[in-house]
Amino acid sequence: MSIRRTPRTPVELVGAEPGPAHTIEFDGRPVPVLPGRTIAAALWADGVLAWRTTRVGGRPRGAFCGIGVCFDCLATVNGRPNQRTCLIPARPGDTVTTQEGHGRADLAV
Ligand code: FES
Repeated sequence: MSIRRTPRTPVELVGAEPGPAHTIEFDGRPVPVLPGRTIAAALWADGVLAWRTTRVGGRPRGAFCGIGVCFDCLATVNGRPNQRTCLIPARPGDTVTTQEGHGRADLAV
């Protein structure tokens, strides 16, 4: 009796043909991105664990829940503050910057 081999990775199972890798920019430096990754996943994969500071105390934050619930992963993406990076697919050329506090420093008086 022979053992039938089946595809062993999700890519093989769905017959996916991922596009080429690309880069986004984080605080002025390039971050490599595999297709399909969110911004948070790309930052994590590049060793970046924090990309926001809290309003009170300036404590570092990054991804926590990874499913859009906790809002710990907020960052400024393409000039828009308060974006949940765990939900946003990374697109070629995206610019992500660390968000300080509430992300509205430009409105401060
Ligand atoms: S990590 Fe919790 S909302 Fe993004």
